[in-house]
Amino acid sequence: MDQHRLGRLVDVGRSLVTELDPEAVLQRLLEVARELTGARYAAIGVLDERREQLERFLTAGIDPDTHRAIGDLPRGRGVLGVLITDPRPLRLPDVGAHPESFGFPLAHPEMTTFLGVPLIIDGQAWGNLYLTEKESGEFTDEDEEATVVLADWAAIAIRNARLYRTVQERRDELERTIRGLETTTEISRALGGVTDLDRVLELVVKRSRALIDARAAEISLREGDAYVLAAQAGEHPGHEGDRIVAPMIFRNRTVGTLTVIDRLHGDRPFNEEDERLLQAFAASAATAVATAQNASEEALKRAIEASEAERTRWARELHDETLQQLAGLRMLLSGARRSGDATRMAGAIDGALEQITTAIGDLRSLITELRPAALDELGTKPALESLVARFEGQTDIAVDLDVTDARFLPEVESTVYRLVQEALTNIAKHAHARRVAVELTADDGEIALVVRDDGTGFNPQLQSSGFGLIGMRERLALVNGTIEIRSSPGAGTELHARIPTG
Ligand SMILES: Nc1ncnc2c1ncn2[C@@H]1O[C@H](COP(=O)(O)OP(=O)(O)OP(=O)(O)O)[C@@H](O)[C@H]1O
Ligand SMILES: [Mg+2]
Repeated sequence: MDQHRLGRLVDVGRSLVTELDPEAVLQRLLEVARELTGARYAAIGVLDERREQLERFLTAGIDPDTHRAIGDLPRGRGVLGVLITDPRPLRLPDVGAHPESFGFPLAHPEMTTFLGVPLIIDGQAWGNLYLTEKESGEFTDEDEEATVVLADWAAIAIRNARLYRTVQERRDELERTIRGLETTTEISRALGGVTDLDRVLELVVKRSRALIDARAAEISLREGDAYVLAAQAGEHPGHEGDRIVAPMIFRNRTVGTLTVIDRLHGDRPFNEEDERLLQAFAASAATAVATAQNASEEALKRAIEASEAERTRWARELHDETLQQLAGLRMLLSGARRSGDATRMAGAIDGALEQITTAIGDLRSLITELRPAALDELGTKPALESLVARFEGQTDIAVDLDVTDARFLPEVESTVYRLVQEALTNIAKHAHARRVAVELTADDGEIALVVRDDGTGFNPQLQSSGFGLIGMRERLALVNGTIEIRSSPGAGTELHARIPTG
């Protein structure tokens, strides 16, 4: 083999084995084989799994129009078949004259000289390299020699590229698993503090959809024996679709199911890897969902208890005030009637009128406390002013009120009112305070409420049997608000509440 050709072969070999894409290796092989031998046409036939037929046929030197005109690609009959059954180099001066020749299709370019070399990978026939129509004369010994070496290089390169692909696929798979684990950890972290069931469900469907790259995701929760759709993300394809259903199991109890439907990008169907990922995800989602379910049951229970306690308080109030007054009135009037004495009766009527006036006043303020009319009609500021006036009248505590005129959504206004009402009640009951400040400001899409007293203070961390502070938090949660209680024994108390308005 001449020096030039040898040098070329080495170069080509080097560039072939560094190519990591199997398809690119084949393309290079076709080009280089033509260049080295001066063949007009080159082709690679790839054998099918049983090594009986060609399953692929790649060509170089034939333009696309001719390709189309030829029609079906060869399957490996005729001379090509000879190389399949007997994988050894085959060189012919006239391929059409070979006894096995099958004849070319009509539109096929004329081909006479032929050189075929098997491609052997790991000791097994993998395919063949065919060269035809040498520019000048027949293919030579040197052509054959060079093509055999080239085929060896190509075999190594294909093997390399394949190995690389498997490694790459493994790495992708590993990366996906890690991503899955990260999402799962992230979700447990994100959900750790979240006890609002709807938010948990929303997060779970959205994250699982992104994790599996699905068109849609759904959660159905178990209610008795039935499963009820509870949350959805993405657009449901409207047909059955490709789907994975993963059970959400928490402490041996099926909480619900998590389903992903159809791949969003590309048309790769869901595979085992996706299934494993979704199952792992569903398992940690189950914990979050079950926790949130318990929390919402807890919250409901507490809300019921709180309203029960509130009712008891009103009943006591009505009993202690109004009922006592009415009972006293009845005694006064019936005593006077029994006496039959006109002067006494006139006095009793005067007394009764006076007591009725007081009772009406008491009842009115009780009703105002239950639902202050001023709140709906005039807004937070006037309602708080009359609340504070009543408070100052009943206690010896002075209140500095600094409240914005702004109006808010009805539920926000009544939350603010109830908060101040409970804060003042607590101050009267527990604080022994002398001064109180109530401040309400609104800006930047947020309301800030501060109630400050100079009383005894307390440790907010300690559990209490009362409902007041719990009620505050729950009312605030309903309007997405938060509260912070700053207090310690001897240092007075500050309540800071924030409610978004935008
Ligand atoms: N401003 C305050 N100053 C001092 N202690 C307070 C103050 N506010 C609340 N506390 C303490 O916190 C506890 C819890 O208050 P909370 O309003 O939840 O319950 P309560 O007032 O005891 O009962 P309820 O509100 O159900 O009638 C109170 O019992 C009291 O010890
Ligand atoms: Mg209270």
